[in-house]
Amino acid sequence: MGRAFVYVILGGGVAAGYAALEFVKKGVSHGELCIISDEPVAPYERPALSKGFLLPEAAARLPSFHTCVGANEERLTPKWYKEHGIELVLGTGVKSTDVKRKTLLTTTGETISYKILIVATGARALKLEEFGVSGSDAENVCYLRHIADANRLVDVMQSCPGGNAVVIGGGYIGMECAASLVINKINVTMVFPEEHCMARLFTSKIANYYEEYYKSRGVNFIKGTVLSSFDFDSNGKVTAVNLRDGTTLSVDMVVVGIGIRPNTGLFEGQLTLEKGGIKVNGMLQSSNSSVYAIGDVAAFPVKAFGETRRLEHVDSARKSAIHVVSSIMEPNKTGEFDYIPFFYSRVFTLSWQFYGDNVGEVVYYGDMSGSAFGAYWVSKGHLVGAFLEGGTKEEYEAIAKATRLRPAIEDLTELERQGLSFAVTV
Ligand code: FDA
Ligand code: NAD
Repeated sequence: MGRAFVYVILGGGVAAGYAALEFVKKGVSHGELCIISDEPVAPYERPALSKGFLLPEAAARLPSFHTCVGANEERLTPKWYKEHGIELVLGTGVKSTDVKRKTLLTTTGETISYKILIVATGARALKLEEFGVSGSDAENVCYLRHIADANRLVDVMQSCPGGNAVVIGGGYIGMECAASLVINKINVTMVFPEEHCMARLFTSKIANYYEEYYKSRGVNFIKGTVLSSFDFDSNGKVTAVNLRDGTTLSVDMVVVGIGIRPNTGLFEGQLTLEKGGIKVNGMLQSSNSSVYAIGDVAAFPVKAFGETRRLEHVDSARKSAIHVVSSIMEPNKTGEFDYIPFFYSRVFTLSWQFYGDNVGEVVYYGDMSGSAFGAYWVSKGHLVGAFLEGGTKEEYEAIAKATRLRPAIEDLTELERQGLSFAVTV
């Protein structure tokens, strides 16, 4: 048994939702498009899971954050898909694929065939077991990738009011969950191996600003070490976290955010992979011309950097989704994907944005003792990246534009003197 579609999107996350809207805008016919997702709900804005979803009051719940509200577009509820003749196959995993025969086999035993496949499988959270520590299955150890994880995190948080949490990992999940835990009046200790938080993006100076702010909100930092084991009670609940530096921390709950791996497993040996993702060209087309990839799972050419990158951020998921639909439906009118990376986060009352690449020399601007400050990255004589905390909409637009234009920078001291006004006037 099986069904056949012209277009199939494998994965029902952020990228799938934005692609669906674009398909409708471009006039897809009823019955042509199918989205298959192992999550039980229609595509939603995943970033809400570590922010609005975790608020102690007036928390965000579906259907309020279905895509595409994150980009101020329509909110695509299950009814919307129905009205537009898009088949949503939810709560159903794809367990194998055959790109030569253009078929997918689902966990329910159905074979679904396609003319064009868009892979939007995103990524999975890395488990502690992959670093030699066991205990991920304990009821008070939480990860955060899917809505089911977020529901569980809320339950665990509510089971220990005023309790102690250890957050493992100093990246995005660690920082955003630590802030949410504090807002829920849980005491937080963050543990990570690097010298400072957000080591993939922040300089130590930028990181220090956030760490000091977190400390002022009661967060304790233990840096330069990792978890070595858990202690459990007789019910299998974690009672303490043992660190490699010899420290033992009593806990009521643990949140783990130690990175991700793109979900490429269904295509290994069938498609070319690069940088841990599915390698695609500027049309977002893989090594098989009937298969495209978007979002976290895609490794695509970033023209401005002259190299292939795989990004793990919502803006690239949204933009690559929109581009792939143009590539497929209007190939003659569509150029190559020309994307400047954009990352952001919001924690407590803080909010930052980053555009471009964090390579080269760093020039700071603004007042780090105040609320607005930032940094530029200058490489090979050009501005290639810009960061801003506490900016206005116009200021964020200015740093985005400046990064896209890559102006020549001859004098770093002059850039420092001009600060944010350089981007505003470029
Ligand atoms: P996404 O993970 O959204 O969707 C993939 C979907 O495919 C999932 O529904 C998955 O279950 C499904 N799937 C996978 N394999 C399957 C299979 N075999 N069969 C069926 N279905 C399958 N970024 C940012 O820029 N700013 C932010 O503030 C945040 N905040 C944030 C918070 C949290 C908690 C997370 C986990 C992530 C973020 N991100 C973020 C990152 C951002 O959410 C991420 O880059 C996008 O969700 C990527 O979109 P995709 O559609 O590629 O994957
Ligand atoms: P990450 O890559 O941002 O951070 C991983 C962190 O894990 C590192 O900073 C490091 O401190 C830590 N780590 C690595 N190995 C460790 C070990 N053995 N023990 C302890 N710590 C270890 O990944 P993440 O924070 O897990 O986020 C997952 C994904 O979600 C990423 O793709 C991220 O981009 C995305 N996300 C993005 C946002 C945002 O853009 N605002 C917010 C939340 C999540």
